[in-house]
Amino acid sequence: MKALIIDDEPGIRLALGHFMLGRGYEILEASSGSAGLALARTELPDIVFLDRKLPDMDGEALLHPLTSPEIGASVVIMTAYVELDEAVQAMKNGAEYYFPKPLDLEHISVILERLEEKLKLKNEIGHFRRLSELDGEDVIVGDSPHIIRIQRLVSLLAKNITTPVLILGESGCGKEMVAKSIHKQSDCKGPMVEINCASLSESLLESELFGHEKGAFTDAKKTKTGLFEVAQNGTVFLDEIAEMPLPIQAKLLKVLDSRTFRRVGGIADLKTNARFMAATNKDIAALVRNGLFREDLFYRLNVLPITVPPLRERGRDVIMLAEFFVKRLGESMGKVGMKISSEVLEQLQHFRWPGNVRELKNIIERMLILAPAGEILREHLPSEIRRGASSVKDWPDPADLRSLRQVEEEYIVHVLKMTGNNHSHAAVRLGISRSTLLARLKIMKSGGSNSDM
Ligand SMILES: Nc1ncnc2c1ncn2[C@@H]1O[C@H](COP(=O)(O)OP(=O)(O)OP(=O)(O)O)[C@@H](O)[C@H]1O
Ligand SMILES: [Mg+2]
Repeated sequence: MKALIIDDEPGIRLALGHFMLGRGYEILEASSGSAGLALARTELPDIVFLDRKLPDMDGEALLHPLTSPEIGASVVIMTAYVELDEAVQAMKNGAEYYFPKPLDLEHISVILERLEEKLKLKNEIGHFRRLSELDGEDVIVGDSPHIIRIQRLVSLLAKNITTPVLILGESGCGKEMVAKSIHKQSDCKGPMVEINCASLSESLLESELFGHEKGAFTDAKKTKTGLFEVAQNGTVFLDEIAEMPLPIQAKLLKVLDSRTFRRVGGIADLKTNARFMAATNKDIAALVRNGLFREDLFYRLNVLPITVPPLRERGRDVIMLAEFFVKRLGESMGKVGMKISSEVLEQLQHFRWPGNVRELKNIIERMLILAPAGEILREHLPSEIRRGASSVKDWPDPADLRSLRQVEEEYIVHVLKMTGNNHSHAAVRLGISRSTLLARLKIMKSGGSNSDM
């Protein structure tokens, strides 16, 4: 579950963040109302801790957008000046609770237990993600013939909003980015909502897509609007479509053909004018041959498929992308004007990039942390890349060889130091989830596991 803390006091963010992390939450932070709202729109937190007095606005002004169906967060207000009637008013306006500052963590624990019970129920029926169109990362960087062809297809498909879009390609190669780009260029007024078909059970996925009527099943306490309704005038992005269970595939095909659907347990035919896009890194044609994906749905989606090639086949795009990320990430990290040495560029160019653009982006971010200022040099390259491009003579002497685990652990410690021991930031820099980082730290503290790494 995700908790967003909107408070301009770093001390509160730190203490509350630490406390919530301990309860297993993923933590997001913002120091102003506008930044908090922007983050909430893209990240859809479950709980928002909202300071009453923010530098740019009165926290209560955010109550409405944060609790609206678009974001649907449970909001807890925090304030140094608690007045009973204000608290009552805030709760009438949709706040779940009103905490006086300084925060009493025991008090918060009790309220959270109650809230978590509610959230559990809600989360079982709320798994889609609204993709931001404003994150500035929707420029498809590259000028290889592949990418130029994709850019052309993107503008073509943007004009034909009734044609479904199927995007194929290895993990991390930019499928979601292509989908966002089509959505953005098509100038439709509705939102773009994504759902990962691999992450939900069949019944959950169905109720996410179609919605359900109150009482359709035991936990359906309220009527729920599904993705097809939420994405009205916009885009439904079905990620990992190859994992969609066959019965849902059949229902999806009907929606694509008739443009109508029924909520689970409903009898009314509802209309949808959402654009459908789907992506997968699987060989979907092979799945069709083996009866694991419906042939008719495949043909319906496969009108003008876009295959995003792996990064290793895109020639000098690697360099363009590296320079783009150095600039873009450098700006967000306060390291403006950084350059990459030509030797590093050459090594990046020769690496195989099994994790594609996502891996390149993560590595540039790591190197930006490691390089003090000015230029990114060979010594800042991760060893796997240096090794890939260098000869055996550049490797350490046998006496200095360390295990992969040792190297990883040293690197984790290093990144933690660089990020002031902030687990969230360190996890982002390392390209792993916060929970993976915490699990690794636990293993490191206990002196390692039985793994043979
Ligand atoms: N051509 C590109 N130009 C700029 N950024 C890119 C490009 N391609 C990918 N990226 C960036 O790389 C990262 C991974 O891309 P994306 O999420 O679109 O990959 P994906 O193919 O959907 O991956 P997965 O299969 O794991 O879901 C994102 O941060 C994206 O913004
Ligand atoms: Mg993706």
